[in-house]
This record gives sequence, structure tokens and C-alpha cells, in this order.
Amino acid sequence: MKFKKIYLVLASIPYFISVNAHQTECFERNVSDLSRPCVERLKPRALNAIDRSMIEPSSITASDALLGDLNQPLVAVLGATGRTGRHVLTELSIRGARIRALSRNIEKAQSSINENYNWMRADVTEPDTLMNALEGVDILISVIGAEESKGKKSPESVSYQGSINFVEAAKKTGVKHIIFMSSIGAGGADNFSTVLLNLVLGKTMKWKSLGEEYIRNSGINFTIIRPGGLRGDPGVLGIKLAQGDQIIGWIPRADVASVLVESAFNEDALDKTFEIINDESLQIDAWRGEFKNLKKGEYGEIATGNFPLNYWIAMILILGLVVFLIRRKKSS
Ligand SMILES: NC(=O)c1ccc[n+]([C@@H]2O[C@H](COP(=O)([O-])OP(=O)(O)OC[C@H]3O[C@@H](n4cnc5c(N)ncnc54)[C@H](OP(=O)(O)O)[C@@H]3O)[C@@H](O)[C@H]2O)c1
Repeated sequence: MKFKKIYLVLASIPYFISVNAHQTECFERNVSDLSRPCVERLKPRALNAIDRSMIEPSSITASDALLGDLNQPLVAVLGATGRTGRHVLTELSIRGARIRALSRNIEKAQSSINENYNWMRADVTEPDTLMNALEGVDILISVIGAEESKGKKSPESVSYQGSINFVEAAKKTGVKHIIFMSSIGAGGADNFSTVLLNLVLGKTMKWKSLGEEYIRNSGINFTIIRPGGLRGDPGVLGIKLAQGDQIIGWIPRADVASVLVESAFNEDALDKTFEIINDESLQIDAWRGEFKNLKKGEYGEIATGNFPLNYWIAMILILGLVVFLIRRKKSS
């Protein structure tokens, strides 16, 4: 019986480390929406999608947008064929932006997405392709993601070296604003999920984090957006913006695309790094006015990929206790 209790205490150590690292909404003292239980508030919100046409510019049709208005900025989308990238193309079309959609495989992109977009080939691991792709571009939105844990398609090659490559090309071609889709955890070096993802997925958070740093230090205006866990559900648009990587949650890809595209047209989003998750307690569309409340120079603690000291201490403590218990059992 005594041993059972000790095992319970040991098992709960990793849980408390992760909870403290995240300082989730459940533990914030000033949360206004306390009508739902804590666990409920951390779940993705209801799936009843709203009518997006009611709250976004609707006077411009998608076909007008594909042709493009020369007074509009030219926006290039890296990762346009991706599950978030497709929503970004739709949002930009609604805005009437001039769009350059980028992919490593134009034929596939044209047949699977829309051949009317201005598709150009770009591979972030091949710097030459980026010089052509970014010629004349005003705003670059990156929603790319690594496909494998090692080699040319790894987080190191795509998220880190890829960011260096597109930043250098952007400097040379005169891009004015880089909008980068990162991930919650990139600024939470001690977060349990960050440590776990770095361990099992080719140090993915480390490379995203270092890619972010390179963009922040580039001298080009930037917006770095770190979404929570991605869902494929329709966007619902009750979105919480936060900084310092202290929240955790979920968000539909369509909502992420809305925030990415809004950042391209909102000066208050310039030179800011922030996290986004779904939050049904917030008014739909209220997030559009929240950019001005975010701070420049706030990005949490860069996830370098090193195993945090408090995790080493917890492991040594657990190991010591296990050895102690085994020896005690043997001697009794
Ligand atoms: N899964 C989650 O819960 C989660 C949470 C937060 C953030 N994220 C991050 O969000 C990002 C987007 O996720 P997603 O699911 O929308 O992505 P996705 O559907 O996997 O699409 C990734 C895109 O990246 C492009 N790409 C890959 N390698 C490239 C390269 N070398 N050069 C140029 N483009 C390249 C691909 O385009 P082509 O094949 O057409 O070239 C593809 O369109 C990822 O970085 C992901 O890690 C994920």
C-alpha cells in the first residue's frame, strides 16, 4: 500500500512539470469565462462554423482577386498547396490581394488547387529558386512544414536553413514584410510538449525557434504567428492572442489563415511574435483589434533543443527513488 502511494507521487511528477511549464488558462487567476470547467475550456470549441462572408470583405469576388489589382501589394505564399496554405490563398483572394502562389511542384499545384493562381516554383532548400520566386514581392507569407525528420525534408533543412535562405532572398529582392507560421512551444523551452517534440521529431521545435530568430534579426519587418494544435474543422474565429508561450490549445487551420492574412494588412502586427488558440469565450472577430495590445520584443524563451535542467533534476530524483525502493524491497 505504501509503495502504491509512492508510485503515484512519482507518476505525477512529469504531469506537474508540464502543467507548470505551460501555465495553462486553467491556472490563470483573472480568466473571465469561468462558466465551463477547466478541461472544457482547454478543448477545441464547438464545430458550428459561422458564415464567414458576414464578417470579412465580400465585395471582391475570388475571380477578380485572381486577376489582381495593381494597386494592391504582391503577396507570395510559400507552402500554398498545404492544408493551411489553401486557406491563405482563399483569404487573400477575398481581400483582392495580388497573389503569387509558390510550390515545389507547379503541375501538381495547378491540378490540385487552382490553375488560375500565378504559380511559381520555389524550394526553400534551393536558394536560386527563391530569387526568382520573390522578385517584385512586397509581402511573404510562409506556411511551410518539414515532411521528414532527417535529410533535405527535415525541420533543420526546411524550418531553419529554409528560413535563412528565404530571408536572404527577401533582402535581395526587397520584400518588406515576412509573415511566418511557427508553432506554440517555439518560445517555451521548458514546455513538456516542446521537450517531447524535440525528442521524437528531429528537434522540430528547436529548428522552428532558430528559424524565428533569424527572421526577427533580419532587419525586415516581420510577424511570427505560433498556432496551437492544428485542426481541419471550419474556422470559427473566436481567437485568443497571447505572448511569452504560456498558453496551450487548438485552432482550425482556416482561423490561422485569417490571422496570417490580417497581419499582412494591419500595421499593429508588425515586428510581433505571438501565439494563437481557439477561445469560444471571446467575441467572434474581436481578435482583429488585439494586435495593438501585443508587445514588440516579447517571444518567450527560445527552445534551443537542450534538455532543460529541471527535467534532468526530475529524472535523477525519480531514478534515485526507484533505486531506493528496489533496495528497500530486497532487504525486507
Ligand atoms: N500539426 C500541428 O498541430 C501544428 C501546430 C502548429 C504549427 N504547425 C506547423 O504549421 C505549418 C503548416 O502546417 P500544415 O499542416 O498546414 O502544412 P502541410 O499541409 O504539411 O503543408 C506544408 C507545405 O510546405 C511546403 N513545403 C514543404 N517543404 C518545402 C520546401 N522545401 N520548399 C518549399 N515549400 C515546402 C509544401 O508545399 P509543396 O509540396 O507544394 O512544395 C506544403 O504545401 C508547419 O510548419 C507545421 O509544423 C503544426
